[in-house]
Amino acid sequence: MSTTMVAPHSKRPIADDKVFAANKKAQEAAKKVGAEQVINSTLGALMEDDGSLSVMQSVMKTFKDLPDAEIAAYAPIAGLPDFQQAAEKAVFDEYRPAGHVRAVATPGGSGGIRHAVWNYMEAGDTMLTADWYWAPYKTITEEHGRKLDTFQLFDENKAFNLPSFKEKVEELLGKQERLLIMMNTPAHNPTGYSLTEEEWKEVLDYLKEKQAKDQKKIILYLDIAYIDFAGDMKTSRGFMKQFENLPESILVLVGYSMSKAFTFYGLRCGALLCLSSSEEIADEFMAAGTFSSRACWSNGTRGAQKLLAKVYSDESLLKKVNEERDSFKKLLETRAHAFVEEAEMVGLEIFPYRAGFFITIPCENPDKVADELAKNHLFLLPLGRGLRFAPCAVSEAKCRKSVRFIKEAMDKVNG
Ligand SMILES: Cc1ncc(COP(=O)(O)O)c(C=O)c1O
Repeated sequence: MSTTMVAPHSKRPIADDKVFAANKKAQEAAKKVGAEQVINSTLGALMEDDGSLSVMQSVMKTFKDLPDAEIAAYAPIAGLPDFQQAAEKAVFDEYRPAGHVRAVATPGGSGGIRHAVWNYMEAGDTMLTADWYWAPYKTITEEHGRKLDTFQLFDENKAFNLPSFKEKVEELLGKQERLLIMMNTPAHNPTGYSLTEEEWKEVLDYLKEKQAKDQKKIILYLDIAYIDFAGDMKTSRGFMKQFENLPESILVLVGYSMSKAFTFYGLRCGALLCLSSSEEIADEFMAAGTFSSRACWSNGTRGAQKLLAKVYSDESLLKKVNEERDSFKKLLETRAHAFVEEAEMVGLEIFPYRAGFFITIPCENPDKVADELAKNHLFLLPLGRGLRFAPCAVSEAKCRKSVRFIKEAMDKVNG
């Protein structure tokens, strides 16, 4: 008799999450040889140079000063109204496109992806994203009985591959009535790429033309988990103005997360927003999202919601928070710049990095290269066809040192 107790659809391999497994190895090495000797570039969280977690003190203080009841009480299912307004401001700043916007509170950015996969895809439908993508996209689609397919993010010149994007949209819209397209930009995980305003124009021109021709439904999901580390407001959000006046059958969803922006990973707070030229479609979004929240997690973390509302209702506090985040952003930029500069010097090929927590090195046999690197106590994330290095987690000096280690390990493994 089979010893399986879970229902067939939930039979999963027993395996550690790859990132957390790599982090565990790095921590074990640190215990043996000392933290100074170890380069732990595994986690997508901002770390101080000494490897401790960076925490925004202005944010933490505001949270701790909240009245007990604002932390302990339930929040409304879709989120506190002042949180919803604050999330809208945080997402768009001065670049709010005209249209109907609604927001539903979610546990981090992950919750928004879940709701979109469930509510904007039919069973068995396929979601489209770039071939370099954050692994949970696949987990979430699979969990909900949906599939994932990819377009090539870069062409042979490492430029945004619009023809591949178009080809995949054509293919999938030939098979299904609606298509959810997941775009993680700016500061893409894992490459650090950001689409330019011009590239966005080309994407939107094509989607509008395609929608007019086929009369199918397109849901464009913007995963902006890293937006507050992607340059200034204009650089990070300027492209959003182009989402104005889209046809009703092109719906924009935006997945906002407080995890990185407020260094509040564990508090699990974010929001899923919609932008539509139709009020009816926006209201429908709200109804579906609220129902889904009730079904999945009931309501969100009230204290985190109140925190965002407080920050955005107090100009001097917002300034303070932004200044503190800017100092983290500068540190991250210095580290990433050091890696990119060193890579150019030693001839290590990387994908175009614009901003964010990660840099990707395309390479053959990534698992073997990662094992080789572990001998030098350098731990990073092997991907299917490359290595993900996380400048967010290591000092500038270690970023520079890592480039040479990676080049040597790749030469050794791949010749
Ligand atoms: C690409 C991307 N999207 C979304 C998220 C959402 O994270 P969270 O659910 O912690 O807010 C992450 C976090 O690592 C991410 O890398």
